[in-house]
Amino acid sequence: MKLITFEGIEGVGKSTQINLVLDWLKTKGFSTKLLREPGSTNFGEQIRELLLSKESNISAHTELLLMFAARSEMIKDHLMDSKEDFILCDRYYHASIAYQGFGRKLSLDLINFLINGINCPTPDLTIIYDLDVKTGFERKANDVIDRIESSGINFFEDVRKGYQQLAKDRSEVEILDASEPIDLISQQTKTLVERLF
Ligand code: TMP
Repeated sequence: MKLITFEGIEGVGKSTQINLVLDWLKTKGFSTKLLREPGSTNFGEQIRELLLSKESNISAHTELLLMFAARSEMIKDHLMDSKEDFILCDRYYHASIAYQGFGRKLSLDLINFLINGINCPTPDLTIIYDLDVKTGFERKANDVIDRIESSGINFFEDVRKGYQQLAKDRSEVEILDASEPIDLISQQTKTLVERLF
């Protein structure tokens, strides 16, 4: 099993790219599974609702711990003993480093402790789609904004910096320019994925 995770701030076109690569892998005859975080289990989807609801007035630590509670369930149900050739996950623990670490300013040591402590498998490939924060929000102008998306421009500037730092620090992480045309980004995504064949 190869685990590929997809990351980026709001409006980078992550879902479009995931679906394009998923269809492409299927046409090549690979078995695949698509997951998302937080979510992908019954329990995790309930946690997702709590996390994204504007009625949840929670601390940054609660936010972090709920992300990891959902993650632990997803790992148990979907990543342990997986039989698929490829698992694609829409966000994973790099999002906790970027959003809760760089964005909410929680301890990176604590986040790395949780990553190791709940035995998160390291992805074979993590693709970050990088985009200017304002452009990302302009693309989502007509969408209903959830609790985390309501965190403001400065928060997302910090999250973006976090992702850029992760691309520098971690060997599994690749970064692509999300301001390019969709077809070009899709080609670049496939070239990265092909290295795992
Ligand atoms: P999305 O996957 O639909 O974008 O929504 C998930 C939201 O949760 C998104 O705003 C990013 C945020 N998130 C974190 O803050 N930390 C995490 O660890 C994960 C997985 C997601």
